[in-house]
Amino acid sequence: MSSSLMEGKDKSAPEATATSVDLAARYRAEFPIFENRIYLNSNSLGALGRRSLEARRRFEREWIERGASAWYDLWLDRLDEVRAAFGRTIGAPRGSIALVPSISAGLTMVADALDFGERPRVVVGELDFPTVAYQFLGRRDRGVETVVLPSPDGLEIPLEAWEEVVDDRTALVATSHVFFTTGAIQDVAALARLAHDRGALLLVDAYQSNGQVPIDARAMGVDFLLSGGLKWLLGGPGIAYLYARPGLSERLAGGPLSWFGVPEPFAFDPRDATPRSDARRFELGTPAAGAAFTALGGLEVIEEIGIPAIRARNALLTEDLISRLRRAGFHPRVVADPERRSAIVPVHHSRPEAAVDQLARNGVIVDHRPGLVRFSPHFYNTIEDNMLAVERLAQVRETS
Ligand SMILES: Cc1ncc(COP(=O)(O)O)c(C=O)c1O
Repeated sequence: MSSSLMEGKDKSAPEATATSVDLAARYRAEFPIFENRIYLNSNSLGALGRRSLEARRRFEREWIERGASAWYDLWLDRLDEVRAAFGRTIGAPRGSIALVPSISAGLTMVADALDFGERPRVVVGELDFPTVAYQFLGRRDRGVETVVLPSPDGLEIPLEAWEEVVDDRTALVATSHVFFTTGAIQDVAALARLAHDRGALLLVDAYQSNGQVPIDARAMGVDFLLSGGLKWLLGGPGIAYLYARPGLSERLAGGPLSWFGVPEPFAFDPRDATPRSDARRFELGTPAAGAAFTALGGLEVIEEIGIPAIRARNALLTEDLISRLRRAGFHPRVVADPERRSAIVPVHHSRPEAAVDQLARNGVIVDHRPGLVRFSPHFYNTIEDNMLAVERLAQVRETS
């Protein structure tokens, strides 16, 4: 593969702006995977960057050199930096972020804290990542009534559909900002208004948007938001976070409590179980420090570029990819309005698993979901990546 950037060489592709060209030119070398692969799979796992590698090595050096004193001298403060950095990506103030090991674990903390007595209903969407529904369906025997809202077109869920089922018996609406198999962006602010009008809370799974689509959690009015390092924030597995709207944590008395959830963990007082008044009451024990510090490397790059600039860059790559796929005879499963598309581009395919394996053997890494091959360009990708990936997908079709 040629390492030169071929932005804008295809006349029918959207025109690359100077800024968007500069982004790939400037950052691609930070991600070693591009030395011998075309990587278009950030919606599964963001590429490992040199800054994350360095953050990880630093953690190992400190562990070797200082042992447990690293906790007190360095790591507790650095965990605070991680909370703050995650928070900045969604405009969240200090104290509104809890570190959790996964989205599913964060969902458990919220589900355990809510009181479903008067309001037994939870509404989720069929296009949401299933772990959201499982969390509440699994509480059926405790009286939780989960409505899984169907999508009329398999691409998105219209606001009117939510309006029909969210009622005054609803405790929570739990859904995605960006759907993982269509890339469609939901209007989270409108969903928050809808939920609040009926006295319900809104939880947003932002794992597939955070880092590629700008989020202002407070302006959007969300009550809870879950995301983490794994995907568009380039931070790797093992570290996620839960945002709780300021003031909300105090109102939720129930749920599990750990020593990281009380104001003075190092007082070691087993008699006083008063939770912290902020979101950190949702932290369940010692955070995965190594994973959290690795995530700081990715967050540094994301913050340096800025999510609005990433969004502009990714929109250009997305539109280019969609038009190339269509010209090659494929059918991307995306919404009609480009404004509501994100950089997840799934393509209908009869043998997605075989196609993804074959592409990987040809140096192109994408992933598959049932009936779909899924591409996800991020700011470090180029038009040339799109071109080669579509060419190779077409070759697979021809040879299979
Ligand atoms: C939108 C979304 N939510 C949740 C998950 C699963 O998160 P976790 O494994 O951290 O529970 C995924 C997949 O990785 C996802 O794409």
